[in-house]
Amino acid sequence: MSRIVYVNGEYLPEEEAKISIFDRGFLFADGVYEVSTILDGKLVDNAGHLARLQRSLAELDIPAPCSMEEIETIQHTLIERNAIAAGSIYLQVTRGAEDRNFLWSEGLKPSLIMFTQSRGAKMDKVAEKGLDVISQPDIRWQRRDIKTVALLPASLAKRKAIAEGANDAWLVEDGMITEGTSNNAHIITKDGKLVTRALSNKILHGITRKAVLALAKEAGLTVEERSFSPDEVKNAAEAFVTSATMFVTPVVSFDGVKIGDGKPGPHTTRLRDLYVSFAKKSLS
Ligand code: PDD
Repeated sequence: MSRIVYVNGEYLPEEEAKISIFDRGFLFADGVYEVSTILDGKLVDNAGHLARLQRSLAELDIPAPCSMEEIETIQHTLIERNAIAAGSIYLQVTRGAEDRNFLWSEGLKPSLIMFTQSRGAKMDKVAEKGLDVISQPDIRWQRRDIKTVALLPASLAKRKAIAEGANDAWLVEDGMITEGTSNNAHIITKDGKLVTRALSNKILHGITRKAVLALAKEAGLTVEERSFSPDEVKNAAEAFVTSATMFVTPVVSFDGVKIGDGKPGPHTTRLRDLYVSFAKKSLS
């Protein structure tokens, strides 16, 4: 059975789903997206993702293609029709299609597409082992707080990391870490503080980051929202990433230097457990 996807009002087998070659998402990366995780056939912290979708759309002046309630209905229909118990759902809104022109016409009809991806136990294995991360220059634009589909710099950095035998890259700008290619970056200092970059236009305002910082504070950890350097990563006790798909995943080496003892640390493991419990409670 082929996967059923959603395109502009229709549920179709993926081979039959079509978008115009003039879609501005395709020609100009003029679109935004969200990824929500599916657990037990339900969505993790989905309200946060839909709130961020609305913010991304507003920042780019793209009208919402439909109400957020309708988006939720489509998400649930796709989960059901594809019988996904664990995985993710991707949704993308673009400004719409018209003959190529840098200046778009007002009143374009936005495009909405969605598809599910199922996942096996691979992510749990990654969490047990931890990630090897390298640094890469952050060559992205200056509005990283908007979740746009312009992901080529992130793809290039990830490819470089894999080519060098690592799993992912943390991006560096002006001597400081911004974030991972598709996740937020965090360290635990040797004196037990969680340090993570403060929110600004320099990073995506991660939905998982927000939940994990709240859980960390509840658990009595001191949280410092400030920039940190590659040297601080190498000298940290622990490091980890957060994202909708990776939850809390340990980072065990950075630019070839072991972090702590080179194994997932106790704070990271605890935060992952706390987040998994939170995720289960947040299902909708
Ligand atoms: N990426 N930073 C970047 C650049 C991201 O692309 C993501 C998410 C995050 C984490 O955000 P959240 O916790 O809301 O997932 C941070 C998704 C998972 C992706 O592109 O597949």
